[in-house]
Amino acid sequence: LAEQFSTGALAGRNVVITAGPTQEAIDPVRYISNHSSGKMGFALAKAAAEAGASVRLISGPVHLPTPDRVERIDVTSARDMHAAAMQQTSDSDIFISCAAVADFRPETVAEIKIKKDPDSPNEGMTVSLVRNPDIVASVAAKEDRPFVVGFAAETGNVIEYAKDKRKRKNLDLIVANDVSDTSIGFNSDDNAVTLIGADIEEPLPKCSKRQLAGQLIEMIAQFYSQSQE
Ligand code: CTP
Ligand code: CA
Repeated sequence: LAEQFSTGALAGRNVVITAGPTQEAIDPVRYISNHSSGKMGFALAKAAAEAGASVRLISGPVHLPTPDRVERIDVTSARDMHAAAMQQTSDSDIFISCAAVADFRPETVAEIKIKKDPDSPNEGMTVSLVRNPDIVASVAAKEDRPFVVGFAAETGNVIEYAKDKRKRKNLDLIVANDVSDTSIGFNSDDNAVTLIGADIEEPLPKCSKRQLAGQLIEMIAQFYSQSQE
């Protein structure tokens, strides 16, 4: 009910957000993943709900409570997240891809726990990896696509890499994140980013992920409205 009467910047909008890492199984007890905490995506979901949106949060395995008035869909692997995102964006206005999707997964998943050979104590082990689908690019390539916002975790020439990524994936906006600074990004409570669109490059200085999420949602809502004119 609250959302029907909301006068927030995203009142009446359907927003789908991905958050957290994905886990790619090697065998029944092992997986490949990354250090994403999910904090930024969860903060965005909370801020979007507070701005009046109806929010669906597709989350990889994280240890975070679901924000109020947010519908959470739990997934494990990149392929699960891809399927959920394709399905959930069939009727969404805005898609925000905040998840740290594993770029590769083991080519095969062993059905039983992989054992060491006790007779070959010096033998190594190789896991063959294959590429995962690009979730945000798949959503952006849909015929009836929502307004699409991606993130770019980069080191080095952060802005240039992010601009390339925005174009390559056909995104409306990309949030560039310098992950060489370990006091921000991934597991941290703080973040500093630059919001990049076709004609904009707006630095948002270091602050808490909660504050940053509020600012990002305001700006995303603004550019989304402009795109509808
Ligand atoms: N992303 C995605 N699906 C993937 C990989 C990434 O949807 N399989 C999304 C992320 O959620 C993010 C954006 O793409 O919004 C950029 O992710 P990033 O890891 O920075 O870029 P990649 O395209 O994976 O390129 P690379 O890691 O090689 O720099
Ligand atoms: Ca990647």
